[in-house]
Amino acid sequence: AEDGYDLWLRYRPLPQAMRTEPRIPGPPSMSSSPALDLAQGELQRGLSGLNPDEPGLDAPTIELGTPKSSALVAGLKLPLKDLGDEGYLIRTLADGKTTVIAANTDIGVLYGVFHYLRLMQTGARTDKLDVRSVPKVRYRLLNHWDNLDRSVERGYAGQSLWDWWRLPDVKDPRYLDYARANASIGINGAVLNNVNAKSDSLTAPYIAKAAALADAFRPYGIKVYLSARFSSPIEIGGLKTADPLDPAVRAFWKAKADEIYKAIPDFGGFLVKANSEGQPGPQDYGRTHADGANMLAQAVGPHGGIVMWRAFVYSHEQPDDRAKQGYAEFKPFDGQFAENVIVQVKNGAIDFQPREPFHPLFGAMPKTNLGLEVQVTKEYLGFSTHLAYLGPMWEEVLKADTFAAGPGSTVAKVVDGKLHGYSRTLMAGVANIGTDRDWSGSQFDQANWYAFGRLAWDPEASSEAIARDWAAMTFSPDRRFTGPAVAMMMGSREAVVDYMTPIGLHHLMGRSHHYGPGPWVSGGERADWTSVYYHKADKAGIGFDRTASGSNAVAQYTPPAAAGFSDLSKIDEKDLLWFHHLPWTYPTRSGRPLWDELVTRYSRGVRSVEGMQASWATLAPYVDPERHAQVAIYLAIQRREAQWWRDASVAYFQSINGLPLPKGEAPPP
Ligand code: GCU
Repeated sequence: AEDGYDLWLRYRPLPQAMRTEPRIPGPPSMSSSPALDLAQGELQRGLSGLNPDEPGLDAPTIELGTPKSSALVAGLKLPLKDLGDEGYLIRTLADGKTTVIAANTDIGVLYGVFHYLRLMQTGARTDKLDVRSVPKVRYRLLNHWDNLDRSVERGYAGQSLWDWWRLPDVKDPRYLDYARANASIGINGAVLNNVNAKSDSLTAPYIAKAAALADAFRPYGIKVYLSARFSSPIEIGGLKTADPLDPAVRAFWKAKADEIYKAIPDFGGFLVKANSEGQPGPQDYGRTHADGANMLAQAVGPHGGIVMWRAFVYSHEQPDDRAKQGYAEFKPFDGQFAENVIVQVKNGAIDFQPREPFHPLFGAMPKTNLGLEVQVTKEYLGFSTHLAYLGPMWEEVLKADTFAAGPGSTVAKVVDGKLHGYSRTLMAGVANIGTDRDWSGSQFDQANWYAFGRLAWDPEASSEAIARDWAAMTFSPDRRFTGPAVAMMMGSREAVVDYMTPIGLHHLMGRSHHYGPGPWVSGGERADWTSVYYHKADKAGIGFDRTASGSNAVAQYTPPAAAGFSDLSKIDEKDLLWFHHLPWTYPTRSGRPLWDELVTRYSRGVRSVEGMQASWATLAPYVDPERHAQVAIYLAIQRREAQWWRDASVAYFQSINGLPLPKGEAPPP
């Protein structure tokens, strides 16, 4: 069935016009290893799948290997030195008949094979290749918010893949398919459990289960990591405290790390959410984030492990603007974190909204390894039923200029370590993967998994080029398909911004589930879990003043970046109401007053979804009926709900400002 299980690794026969002379894998290598065997097997599978034509007797060959495994590669004296442990070269030799895929390591070779096959799948020329690729980011991780009962926090694709009950004995073959898909896009690590962690995950039975997963993933170059609950010394260690400066607590973590490494020698390390949303942490004992992170770093350090310490911290007891809290709690500790700690910064400072300006910590921590955390699962963008390709959202953040070392100091250059010379670099994506047959809950959500991996490999890559590859591999390389499909994808996130949170508005979703409109949400236990806290609409105007006259969050940015946000003549209107509270009559650049512009954008979002529907309808000839129908049904849901968002939001804001709708705008029902 064409249910999408194969993801972007379909290897169906290419249209005749896109086939080159069939190629065959060269002779098997001198030595073998699990990764090399996988590379050879993948190559064979891809070549014969994509081009089932019978190869001639002197068919061109694809040789793969490292200098150790292949005499040919060793003899060629290729410039492999700068490729590191994961990079690769793909080169067609002067004879025009032999293409080599070479790397220093077997994993590098496997990555190279996936790249080669991608070129074939997308209809690129493969007869004269000279490709060199090295990942710019060292730790490219999925964060699974998976609970031990197999529920997934903010997961919209079924249950957790990890069948904890039957592990470690039952090794579901799907673990291998998962690892293969990740390897194909360069992901090299998986945090198995939710950041809202249970201490149970660090007990002996669960360590054995995690070890079984690590064994399954290892040949694909994927390491296992665990979220650690800071109070574990109390809950599973029999101690009275989790104070990071207490010797018994330190001994607990050291012993725990030793125990884990005994079972998983290449264990990656810990991810920690501490002192955020009620989670325990070092501040419970009057200690700092650095105290907590460094204690864990010392425990895993001797084994080569790392600690990813999240900067997504906020407390509702702190009445100040929530957007300021991450920076306020971390900036003072720049330079105090151990070398094997990476502070993991969620973008943005509020919470994975459809649009947020870049997090002010980027560029502000030159002496602390900072990693970027994005959310692949669409908690705030319509779950799996709304089509929103997130590549452009991440690209927008990565391209944002922090001005930390003058113009061109982009977030990408912070994240890839170049700007500040970080010793370790990280990109983490909160996974959208579950037990659904199509893995992600919808066909198009697979693109977000795919794009995350590709951008983590190269944070300066073009999200449009990535979309083109994905669409070609997943559906059809025919340009008559990829053209309109990529256009749909590239506009899809902006459509969501338009019908949910236009012009810099944010966090207007229904309380706690975050699906559907709720701009009226107020009251309850926390101000910062309401919508009125964020939009601050009243009879006179709307928006969150984060300039000097308001919360002054803008001062957390470097002066040139701050000026770009606070100066009304400079600010990009996409961020307008994030930083400014303005009268409904404020003249926007379209010439329309703010209120009219807002309504116009809401309606534009609905029309964009209609545009996607129309476009998708024309693409039926290129897509199998099953997947085509599924996407069409989802788009119909999205159309209906975009209208719901538009009508509810317009009606609500109108109930506050009492203004008439602009001409031609239909009143909400
Ligand atoms: C969001 C999300 C929570 C999650 C939190 C986090 O607030 O709604 O479910 O736990 O982010 O990133 O820790």
